[in-house]
Amino acid sequence: MNYAKYEYALAMLETEVNVLIQEFSRIHGYMPVEHRKTRLKSEKSIIDKLNRKGKEYSEENVLKYINDVVGLRLVVSFISDVYDMVSLLSRSVNIIIKEKKDYILEPKKSGYSSYHLKVLVPIYLDGYVEYIPAEIQVRTVAMDFWASLDHKIRYKFPDVIPSDVQEKMQDYAKDIQELDRKMYELNKAMNNYE
Ligand code: GTP
Ligand code: MG
Repeated sequence: MNYAKYEYALAMLETEVNVLIQEFSRIHGYMPVEHRKTRLKSEKSIIDKLNRKGKEYSEENVLKYINDVVGLRLVVSFISDVYDMVSLLSRSVNIIIKEKKDYILEPKKSGYSSYHLKVLVPIYLDGYVEYIPAEIQVRTVAMDFWASLDHKIRYKFPDVIPSDVQEKMQDYAKDIQELDRKMYELNKAMNNYE
């Protein structure tokens, strides 16, 4: 597969988001993003995902059915930062938002919680513009902690996750929700001291 377009899109997205975040932090005197991560989906993962969807591996099908070849994750401190970053990205003149999914307001059954944006990123080619799909995930450090263990669990049990493990993860997701809320409240109270 020709990855070049996806590489350009990743570079575009990274630059755009870097500028937006740096400007945000310059204007507000506050840096909400703890870390960020970009990745291109591997060819193997692309093929596996197409298989699951019952589609053949072709350049056209990748563009049509795989929305997350280009991925960007922003890990922020507080829940409020998630929404600040989502509205910041929504105001971008370059990135086109296709879809928003708020798994914080409505976590997945597993307990998974994050804010997802499906977007289109422009790449500027010789005399024309092409739009490449990308997925942006925005979550707190606590949600990221949960998701990384969940990821390991899914890797270890690709078919069925033992029910006790599943239940524990659902419980811990609730704990994390509660902790995120408390941390947000404490931070807000702290700001009042100045
Ligand atoms: P795909 O699942 O990518 O086909 O598209 P979708 O539109 O269904 O997206 P969805 O919002 O379900 O999730 C896409 C991505 O979110 C996944 O590739 C994961 O990175 C992440 N994700 C979704 N659910 C879970 C979960 O239960 N656990 C973890 N660790 N990550 C998840
Ligand atoms: Mg999915």
